[in-house]
Amino acid sequence: MGNNIITIDGPSGAGKSTIARLAAARLGLRYLDTGAMYRALTLHCMRAGIHLDKPAEVAKSLATAQLRVELTHDGPMKVFLGADDVTQKIRTQEVTRNIHYVADVREARDFLTRIQRDIARQGDLVTEGRDQGTVVFPDADLKIYMFATPEVRARRRFTEMTERGASVTYEEILEDVSRRDYLDMSREIGGLRKAMDALELDTSNLTPEQVAESIVKLAKSRLAMRTRKIDQEALRQITGRDARPK
Ligand code: C5P
Repeated sequence: MGNNIITIDGPSGAGKSTIARLAAARLGLRYLDTGAMYRALTLHCMRAGIHLDKPAEVAKSLATAQLRVELTHDGPMKVFLGADDVTQKIRTQEVTRNIHYVADVREARDFLTRIQRDIARQGDLVTEGRDQGTVVFPDADLKIYMFATPEVRARRRFTEMTERGASVTYEEILEDVSRRDYLDMSREIGGLRKAMDALELDTSNLTPEQVAESIVKLAKSRLAMRTRKIDQEALRQITGRDARPK
């Protein structure tokens, strides 16, 4: 029996990171931000000076990518390229603009999928991204598909960026959100899709606190169900009988 896995997938700006972090902290699980891994790999390719628009060059550069992540229970995940802590350096517009070159390459996706599954083998996890419930962890205990209208997502990002002092317009951000939705949804492998067994959560009119709380409740009941199933199975193995009333 593997570890407990909760996946949260959805478009950019749906509030996944904040909510996944809050839920993970409350559940005492580690939190994995897979978008940060795609960002770090993109930065590695940029630093290697390869032609990003040539998939074979992106694939070849994986051999020298010393990507490492440090997970915590209550804070943002840290990402390293070799000894360099790139946690903040991967948040630039330039990296964001280039990610799709890397995220479209099958070898790059396989490379990160392997690392993500290795991390899950080491313990329970709340993992967030685009393909976590569909491709990477199809057997996850709880799958959430989180979304909000493009306008709400653009408004949130606009507020966030102007508070940080960035000079952008709401229209620019809305265009960027729509462009990334298109790129993420039209990707052949690992594209953004709702897993058949994922629960949909519309975060448009909810605070991150409210959404995290619903996930915590759902997770507790799912994981308790799973524990009961394991108990039943253990009992069957010991006694050869089922404890459920007939
Ligand atoms: O979540 P974040 O916005 O940081 O993700 C950046 C980009 O990385 C996404 O727009 C998507 O292109 C890519 N990504 C992906 N698969 C994931 C996570 C992110 O392709 N599991």
